[in-house]
Amino acid sequence: MSQKTSVLTFKNAKLNSEKITMLTAYDYSTAKLMDESGIDSILVGDSLGNVILGYEDTISVTMEDMIHHGAAVSRGVKNALVVIDMPFMSYQTSTYDALVNAGRLMKEGRAGAVKLEGGKAVCPQIQAITHAGIPVMAHLGLTPQSIHAFGGHRVQGKTEEAAKKLLEDARAIEEAGAFAVVLECVPSKLAALITKELAIPTIGIGAGNCCDGQVLVYQDLLGMFSDFTPKFVKKYANVGEIMKEAFKEYKREVSSGVFPAKEHEYAISDEVIEKLY
Ligand code: KIV
Repeated sequence: MSQKTSVLTFKNAKLNSEKITMLTAYDYSTAKLMDESGIDSILVGDSLGNVILGYEDTISVTMEDMIHHGAAVSRGVKNALVVIDMPFMSYQTSTYDALVNAGRLMKEGRAGAVKLEGGKAVCPQIQAITHAGIPVMAHLGLTPQSIHAFGGHRVQGKTEEAAKKLLEDARAIEEAGAFAVVLECVPSKLAALITKELAIPTIGIGAGNCCDGQVLVYQDLLGMFSDFTPKFVKKYANVGEIMKEAFKEYKREVSSGVFPAKEHEYAISDEVIEKLY
């Protein structure tokens, strides 16, 4: 996909069996690099609570956080579809709250779509938001905003009952109008079945290779976040180590007076300087 990405491009990608690529970003410069690399969609995830703000979970992330980072990402993107996460308690409380907050992410964050977590329970919200002309991406499986209800980071849908519920939730969010769904930490065979059942694309994270697309948190992909690395992460680079080496080298050069060198200085004529004495 090379033209400006939209929900239509997602739909066509599924029809044409083309994989959709998505990464998280939280700032202008990173989003610009991803966009220039041809990534189809950028998710301003509430994972920013973990990887940017240093919280243990995503519970404390606010609408203001999402708008602040979402708007920065949107300014860096020309082609990718920017999806901004609805943070904890910005949509669970009522369809009215969901609509108002989704509207803020579009108006102030300049999102192309919003994402929210949950199945049947949030279908009224998905319906209300999509009826207002705002595309909604759903999120099923391990939904981090419910981490306390799950009792930790666990693979979801492993029992017959849980797998049936996940499938029913997937059908329900499609029926409610979601244009795509993230499947997080779901056994790959179940994700494959859901992908086959749904007309909308599935975007996997820890859900195997049969999903219609994949998403990763970019700090995980680049080896920049060491607090916790889930099994599903593939490190494409060790940028964390490269950064640490560069920081150490900077410290060495500043301490020893090597940096800044002549080529980093601004000149002034000696005449001007002499007049100051
Ligand atoms: O917040 C996030 O980054 C996400 C992805 C893990 C899908 O929801």
